[in-house]
Amino acid sequence: MAKSALITGITGQDGYHLANLLNEKGYDVYGLIRGQQNPKRDRVIKEQPFVKLIEGDLTDQGSLIRAMQIAKPEEVYNLGAISHVGHSFKSPQLTADVTGKGVLNILEAIRAVGGEKTIRFYQASTSEMFGGLDYNRPGVGYDENSLFHPRSPYGVAKLYGHWITKNYRESYGIHASCGILFNHEGDRRGVEFVTRKITNAVARIKLGKQTHVELGNLDSKRDWGYAGDYVEGMWRMLQQDKPDDYVLATGETHTIREFCELAFAEIGIKLEWQGEDVNEVGIDAATDKTVLKINPDFFRPAEVDILLGNPAKAEEVLGWKRKVDFPGLVKLMVETDLALEGEVI
Ligand code: NAP
Ligand code: GDD
Repeated sequence: MAKSALITGITGQDGYHLANLLNEKGYDVYGLIRGQQNPKRDRVIKEQPFVKLIEGDLTDQGSLIRAMQIAKPEEVYNLGAISHVGHSFKSPQLTADVTGKGVLNILEAIRAVGGEKTIRFYQASTSEMFGGLDYNRPGVGYDENSLFHPRSPYGVAKLYGHWITKNYRESYGIHASCGILFNHEGDRRGVEFVTRKITNAVARIKLGKQTHVELGNLDSKRDWGYAGDYVEGMWRMLQQDKPDDYVLATGETHTIREFCELAFAEIGIKLEWQGEDVNEVGIDAATDKTVLKINPDFFRPAEVDILLGNPAKAEEVLGWKRKVDFPGLVKLMVETDLALEGEVI
């Protein structure tokens, strides 16, 4: 009999990759989809017709219990969230309800259907919980034992989700694991996140559809991997005899500035930086045209300056390792955006 898995956040980046992975492995894949007329529904139906969609919302516990009754899952992957850090400052209460309390709602739904011993649970925890402030081990990076100091309503909500998952594991014996994932990107990343915003703009600049891109803080550093690699790690966590928490990361960190330089280089533009602070611009060295400007609207009330992860535990216990490296990731994303933008000229 095929195993059944329920994914929340099926319309998101990771939901897309995870659904493909589980389908390849022969699972019956169910996806929770929110809203009366979610515009992303048609895309899932078209691209992933094997996904059985169930209507529901992480803030609506009845809908989560119903989803458990329909899918009868052996594995639940809780990927649904208000996931944009900048947006969480603008909608902090909604973020607490969905990204934080939503985790409690789905754990309670597991209990409501008596699934404590039969359902394995994955919680999408995040490197945002570390916050970057106690980064004091250069070159080593955050691991599962590092201190948390979230710097956004999103990070705080995720920390609640992280601890309530651990608490339900300890209290009720649920096979519940938290993946503390560092940033992962790719051709399915939303354009509201900085990497996709850059690669999409680079493609449009190349095709003459846009003159420049406007960004916020160029100096924060992120440990960026490829989403397709990371969903493999999620699945591996739920295949272990015992539940546990794992960091998934690359062990490398790069600035937004470096990402921009590599992305523009993919279309043959050598970026030169001129000016300072909000007046800094990125110039095409060959033409002197401004292709990048700073817009303070994209600054955050509090910033996570540096994220660097140490994936040693996941590599040793899960046998997981990222495959796509940083230049490979930038290249993959620019190529995808050139193809997509070229198609719709
Ligand atoms: P994403 O693309 O932003 O997807 C978020 C998903 O959550 C969407 O499918 C969205 O569905 C759904 N959602 C939002 N509100 C909901 C609600 N009230 N009820 C049910 N579903 C709701 O995020 P992602 O990059 O795939 O990330 C997946 C998970 O991993 C998230 O929890 C994120 O916080 C976490 N994470 C991501 C990263 C990363 O670098 N990508 C790193 C660490 C942790 P709609 O179609 O309804 O909007
Ligand atoms: N989004 C965005 N847009 N970020 C910008 C911009 C811009 O125009 N300009 C500069 N940045 C900076 C942000 O200030 C931040 O320091 C960095 O780029 C990365 O921002 P995002 O791509 O929005 O990602 P994030 O690191 O804040 O959060 C992502 O990774 C987390 C894991 O560490 C999200 O996927 C979270 O859901 C995830 O938990």
